[in-house]
Amino acid sequence: MSIKLGSLVVGLATYVPGLRSLTARKTGGTVSARYCYSVWLRHLSMLHGCALPTKFETTVELGPGDSLGIGLAAILSGTERYLAVDVIRYADSSLNLQIFEELIALFRAHAPIPDDAEFPLVQPSLPSYAFPSDVLTSARLDAALNPNRLELIRAFITNPATTARADAPLCYLAPWEPGVIRDATVDLVLSQSVLEYPHDLAGIYAEMYRWLKRGGVMSHEIDFKSIGITTDWNGHWSCSDAVWRLAAGRRRHRLNREPHSTHIALIEKMGCRIVCDERIIRPSGIKRAQLAPRFRHLTDEDLITGSALIQAVKLA
Ligand SMILES: C[S@@+](CC[C@H](N)C(=O)[O-])C[C@H]1O[C@@H](n2cnc3c(N)ncnc32)[C@H](O)[C@@H]1O
Repeated sequence: MSIKLGSLVVGLATYVPGLRSLTARKTGGTVSARYCYSVWLRHLSMLHGCALPTKFETTVELGPGDSLGIGLAAILSGTERYLAVDVIRYADSSLNLQIFEELIALFRAHAPIPDDAEFPLVQPSLPSYAFPSDVLTSARLDAALNPNRLELIRAFITNPATTARADAPLCYLAPWEPGVIRDATVDLVLSQSVLEYPHDLAGIYAEMYRWLKRGGVMSHEIDFKSIGITTDWNGHWSCSDAVWRLAAGRRRHRLNREPHSTHIALIEKMGCRIVCDERIIRPSGIKRAQLAPRFRHLTDEDLITGSALIQAVKLA
């Protein structure tokens, strides 16, 4: 069995009343302004590299985690309205304000994008980590960093709108439900290390599709690895549902175990054109014969795809 003993113990412990709430009390990455700056500029640079739009009136982020820093970086790049949508309200105003000030300093300094040496686990990787001055021109940054605008954003960080108000530059919808955002009102939906969790993936993609305007863009970085629960990075595809239920337990965030091809199929089925599909290839840790019955359909590509950045445009 490829489940790690420690993971199994944690999984089983989540069935003990009271212990479940000890899992996923924090999410990690977005506690750091440099992480948020890096992730946002990586998505933006990849959009630019694929000749997709880089200016967005309204941006939605799915699953921001511990802070709204990735969206605040989007605001400091000119996004007029940012809506953060999460299943748990992790972020608080004091960390958001601190990260906002650190981000302002990074943008004012045209700081290079923190690279793989600083964040070796963050994807996507870029060919260049220089500040993207061709996208974030001085004129664009001057407008985005206007002191009056920053003062208004600070007020909304202190008191974010909790419904999707059209007049609010910052809305934090957590926990969220389908229908919280009006159809065809969004220019960009992005997520970083989120879409490996929702179990109703078809429902989530349908929802994001509805939010987008025609020509709107999705940008999702998705991790397909077992996040350390199994000894092999893709050992989760060899576990029967019964074994996986024990190992994953009642953790607050349980992987959906869906491979790359599921995401591609759902995005295309909805009527989006995939423009960028940047896969990170890793040698498979398991043989095809070891796949659990419900994963026998995985393609050879799925078996070696550890993560991917998928960017797509809504056609109609
Ligand atoms: C691994 S954390 C990533 C946080 C952040 N994006 C980052 O880069 O550090 C996963 C996040 O996805 C959120 N999440 C999981 N399922 C979700 C769903 N169905 N809708 C919105 N957010 C979800 C979790 O609450 C958590 O904030």
